[in-house]
Amino acid sequence: MRKAVAKVEAVPPGEMLPVDIEGLPPIVIFNLDGELFATSNICTHAVARLSDGFFEEGVIECPLHSGCFDVRTGEATEFPCEIPLKTYNVEVDGDDILVEFD
Ligand code: FES
Repeated sequence: MRKAVAKVEAVPPGEMLPVDIEGLPPIVIFNLDGELFATSNICTHAVARLSDGFFEEGVIECPLHSGCFDVRTGEATEFPCEIPLKTYNVEVDGDDILVEFD
């Protein structure tokens, strides 16, 4: 199911935006140098919201134990995270950000 989740201007380059839509998994939209990516907002190590962490150079650092993930692929890049994050396809339609949910 493809859903409009936010306006493009809500996520400037270098920023992230948590999106919580009832009935759908919580996700984060990342703007990496103008390119948009989306991942689950819940760390795979324990229960923490990644959008409360730090987004820098394509990597999201979890606020709880400082594990890291590559936002482009979901790959876990820093201990103690080992399980990849779920990623979602993102498209832009006009000024809407569309995300493909399963
Ligand atoms: Fe994210 Fe532990 S909960 S690194």
